[in-house]
Amino acid sequence: MKQISRKEILNNNIPDHIAIIMDGNGRWAKEKNLPRLAGHNEGINSVREIVRICGEIEVKYLTLYTFSNENWLRPSKEVSAIMSLLMKTISKEIANLHKNNVRFNAIGDLESLPKKPFDRINDGILMTKENTGLNLTLALSYGGRQELISAVKSIIRKFIEKPQEYDMIDEKEFKKHLYTSDMPDPDLLIRTGGEKRISNFLLWQIAYTELFMTDAYWPDFREELLMKSIFDFQNRQRRFGKTGDQVSL
Ligand code: IPE
Ligand code: IPE
Ligand code: MG
Repeated sequence: MKQISRKEILNNNIPDHIAIIMDGNGRWAKEKNLPRLAGHNEGINSVREIVRICGEIEVKYLTLYTFSNENWLRPSKEVSAIMSLLMKTISKEIANLHKNNVRFNAIGDLESLPKKPFDRINDGILMTKENTGLNLTLALSYGGRQELISAVKSIIRKFIEKPQEYDMIDEKEFKKHLYTSDMPDPDLLIRTGGEKRISNFLLWQIAYTELFMTDAYWPDFREELLMKSIFDFQNRQRRFGKTGDQVSL
């Protein structure tokens, strides 16, 4: 496919919310005979570039799957290396994000993170909470099924003593109990690394999201591929169950 310029995509609707499953760091490193951590390190350069461009083209929400609930099952050396990289990266980048008006956030079972990254994340959230630019959310120790269970528990707590109000539990009410209660659902979900699966990411929220899957490993996902994914998105017809004629009216 031909290269898509930024100018081309700016002529059309930019997705409000892009979510990304950043996969393939390990294989990127392996192909280069490097340790897996080198892939995670290089992946941070992709994060920096994609965050910058999303801010520039005025994407409103960018949600990055950074560490899943299931990723805790990796060898403990890799888990602790990722946690330490996370902490260092947030400490190093947060001032720059703040300067660029980025509002930083994190979703997931954050309490299960080690104290140092947990503290850095909370400092970052606090520091940038009044910003009005890109909403950057890291999904950390995140699992879609776990999020749904936590939403159900929260609904039970709210309604347990009000059975006469059970009928008020609809989609809108349910959404209020998700980690993403204050965000629109993703318009575009990108997965790098070649797999065709969701791996427990944003299960509720992606009901009508457009999917873009690429074989490129995350450390190779830069401006050119982001433009391609947005261009692809812009050339789809989102029907939400209706007919093509209905939505093109
Ligand atoms: C994604 O890359 C990063 C995390 C899941 C933390 P991987 O580490 O899963 O890379 P591959 O899939 O092994 O290549
Ligand atoms: C998904 O990648 C999780 C993140 C990118 C953080 P995985 O590498 O964990 O996914 P699976 O295990 O191949 O499904
Ligand atoms: Mg992977």
